[in-house]
Amino acid sequence: MTTPTHVSIIMDGNGRWAQLHGKERLYGHKAGAESVRMTVRTAAEKGVKYLSLFAFSSENWHRPKTEVDGLMELLAQAVVEETPALVKNNVRLRYIGALSHLPPHVCALLECSVRETAECTGLTVILALSYSGTWDILQAINRYTRDLLANKTDDQVLDIALFESYLSTAGIPPPDLLIRTSGEKRISNYMLWQLAYTELYFTQTLWPDFRSEDFIKALDEYARRERRFGKTGTQCKNNE
Ligand code: FPP
Repeated sequence: MTTPTHVSIIMDGNGRWAQLHGKERLYGHKAGAESVRMTVRTAAEKGVKYLSLFAFSSENWHRPKTEVDGLMELLAQAVVEETPALVKNNVRLRYIGALSHLPPHVCALLECSVRETAECTGLTVILALSYSGTWDILQAINRYTRDLLANKTDDQVLDIALFESYLSTAGIPPPDLLIRTSGEKRISNYMLWQLAYTELYFTQTLWPDFRSEDFIKALDEYARRERRFGKTGTQCKNNE
């Protein structure tokens, strides 16, 4: 079976799940954190090398303050509680996004976990926090322009490889498979550049209900897809 190197997930539906259970939205996010734990475990077992998770978008800052504060505390708690298990299971933690917008203590805890897991060589988990695809593209252009003006690069023309070296995902292969839960069929300003040739998988399952079997179902579906990258089916079959 073809296992994707990089799986990315838009974890959606926590709020609706909470509503279905007659609870506050934060209850759904807490249940969603449990799905994150299980998904990380399954990804590692299945030999996925990179798992990126859209945990908090640039736009999510506009949610009610109580929800934003609750999500930040949930994140801090998860990082503290899970780091020993990450190290034990050889899982490396990284993040992408405008991290300086997060509360300083959450940043510090994340940085700490990133340092503690830096030598792990198994699965890499990438948390997208205060992230959006448009933010990523703009920060790449701005950093490149700064380097150009400061004579730190001689390359006057951006090509794909040079541009990608400025994206927050530099060094990480683009997602092979994107899963979005909860029935929405949108990219929602996620990795706009990186998703160019990604296989998309949408499921009705709400994120807090997403279990190992759901993940494996998505991996199975991916294995059945033919990825052509603009070539013909015959060319791909002949490995041209
Ligand atoms: C989307 O559901 C989910 C989020 C904005 C947050 C994702 C956060 C978690 C899964 C919790 C913890 C994360 C980590 C990494 C430990 P929604 O609130 O948009 O749901 P709705 O569309 O039903 O309202």
